[in-house]
Amino acid sequence: MKILVVGGGGREHAIIKQLKKNSRVSEIYALPGNGGIAADAVCVDIAAMDIEGICDFAVQNGIDYAVVAPDDPLVAGCVDALEEKGIRCFGPKAKAALIEGSKVFAKNLMKKYGIPTAAYETFDDMSKALVYLETAPVPVVVKADGLALGKGVIIAETKEAAKDAVISMMQDKAFGKSGEHIVIEEYLTGPEVSVLSFTDGKTVVPMISSMDHKRIGEQDTGLNTGGMGTVAPNPYYTEDVAKVCMDTIFLPTIRAMNEEGRSFAGCLYFGLMLTKDGPKVIEYNCRFGDPETQVVLPLLESDLLEVMEAVTDGRLAECPVSFSKKHAACVIMASKGYPVSYEKGYEITIPEELADSVYVAGAAQKEGHLVTHGGRVLGVTAIGDSLAETIDAAYAKVEKIHFDNAYYRRDIGARALKAVEK
Ligand code: AMP
Ligand code: GLY
Repeated sequence: MKILVVGGGGREHAIIKQLKKNSRVSEIYALPGNGGIAADAVCVDIAAMDIEGICDFAVQNGIDYAVVAPDDPLVAGCVDALEEKGIRCFGPKAKAALIEGSKVFAKNLMKKYGIPTAAYETFDDMSKALVYLETAPVPVVVKADGLALGKGVIIAETKEAAKDAVISMMQDKAFGKSGEHIVIEEYLTGPEVSVLSFTDGKTVVPMISSMDHKRIGEQDTGLNTGGMGTVAPNPYYTEDVAKVCMDTIFLPTIRAMNEEGRSFAGCLYFGLMLTKDGPKVIEYNCRFGDPETQVVLPLLESDLLEVMEAVTDGRLAECPVSFSKKHAACVIMASKGYPVSYEKGYEITIPEELADSVYVAGAAQKEGHLVTHGGRVLGVTAIGDSLAETIDAAYAKVEKIHFDNAYYRRDIGARALKAVEK
């Protein structure tokens, strides 16, 4: 079976490593992949947003199955285009990917179907948004409607900061068209949990829960990033919480999407906050999270390809999906200066025995060497019996990997550990 994976980050590397375990798989192509993924797949220099190029490649190379991993090609209709060419796919159609592609759509969906989320108003007129902020309590959260590379959410501590955020989105177009519509919402507090799920639009199977670390600095300080590390499971996500989420969030969301004629098949990611009033949705993603995938998939005991095909064929209810009872931790090693500016081109050395633990995100091949090529360079995952020993094992591996100007947080999992020890 010839498989194509669209994307080129650590998440895609984790998906590819998992797919490779299936003996039916003869070849995996990554479009575009990266210098590290090249160890596990044939990387082809076609961008993830070059939907026509992806379709042509799939047809010309007799691809049997495609996994579209990143948000932007999903929202832009990559699955629709591939399916039109007769290629079976894992991932939602554009109509369903809108649940991530438009925050206004997602919020209105939750309101209409009574799914718990932060109270909000939507605006397409800047002056009305500014008037609203005069009396809104702070902190307040300002969100650009569309995709914004994870940067379209601003938590404003003061009225002035909130107004600046609105002006930068709506007038200065900091996120282009994504900021033409905005959501202004209530600031919530509580532990955050990421729950990725498989769904075929009928059945929803949550994967093991996880916890992301989004800020660049230790103790969750500094700028937001694409994610600096993850642990799974998330200790705040108890069985009781899981049950409430299934009844009030997961199933209602699947049903709501069906009602709207936007049936979702693929990986639906629930970004949750466990508030004192119960779990609420912070965001939906129409795809696997990064770097959540780098801790969730290593704990998947079932065969990923079998599960994905069951999703595609609408027979997820008959497909067993099981996760290990162990823990996983992933530490992201980044280039110093990320997420603002950083240098590239430093040689990366990874001991042979760690090849299976490393998911490469931003690296290229240069004269036979792997060199840094992005802000987040790679993720290092360890698996263990307790959270504490798993975190230690991940850092022990990090110590053995080298590139100049490497930066990583030393407190990945520390908050989770506190929750366990409580
Ligand atoms: P997002 O880009 O949608 O993943 O949001 C980035 C982060 O902003 C989330 O992980 C939360 O930590 C935070 N956030 C988003 N919405 C809210 C909210 N209503 N209240 C508090 N924090 C929020
Ligand atoms: N880790 C959060 C995301 O993938 O959006």
